[in-house]
Amino acid sequence: MRDAGVAEEGLESSQGYKTMQAAVEITVDKSDICREIMSELTDWFSEPEVIEACAAAVEALPMFACVDGNRISGFVAMRSHPPDAMEILVIATRTAYHRSGVGRRLLAAAEDCARASGCRILTVKTLAYRGKTEPQYDATRAFYDRNGFIRAEVFPTLWHEDHPCLFFVKPLPAIP
Ligand SMILES: CC(C)(COP(=O)(O)OP(=O)(O)OC[C@H]1O[C@@H](n2cnc3c(N)ncnc32)[C@H](O)[C@@H]1OP(=O)(O)O)[C@@H](O)C(=O)NCCC(=O)NCCS
Repeated sequence: MRDAGVAEEGLESSQGYKTMQAAVEITVDKSDICREIMSELTDWFSEPEVIEACAAAVEALPMFACVDGNRISGFVAMRSHPPDAMEILVIATRTAYHRSGVGRRLLAAAEDCARASGCRILTVKTLAYRGKTEPQYDATRAFYDRNGFIRAEVFPTLWHEDHPCLFFVKPLPAIP
């Protein structure tokens, strides 16, 4: 397992857990991890076929996770678009660890992975605002807004006309 280069420090989750976490590369049980954590997040992922599609896809993709003891608190899986872009296919933190810095660490690992492949942008697709009160998706979009992603374009029918796609990009300036 590769240390993703994220400094370790004490974290406190929304439920008061004190944790010690660093993002590491995961090489086994990737489908199971993806399926288990996405299935917990029912406010975001309600369609079993979407979860199964992600679980199948991640098996062949680089995956990074934060670990608390022997429990995985969150993971990110990356899809390459050579030569210059790397996409976050899926990122998810267990509810108990939301706002404890796990997502930020996963993004750092994703950026390290992208840079290591020579990529100049990190991208992610998520649900666009669709005229409904859906605070959970507002929170997801806020997460990307506050972590350096730029709202590049909305694709109204890429997925489905009821699921408009918001395409975020994050430029990755070269580190001198
Ligand atoms: C999106 C997600 C991965 C973020 O993970 P997280 O571990 O809660 O994120 P972090 O604690 O590292 O948050 C880092 C920063 O992002 C921003 N942020 C995170 N959640 C936010 C929210 N609900 N509202 C506003 N800003 C938020 C904040 O700036 C936060 O820093 P702060 O807590 O010091 O203010 C997590 O909420 C999640 O799993 N959501 C459900 C699944 C999902 O939406 N996945 C993405 C699909 S494309």
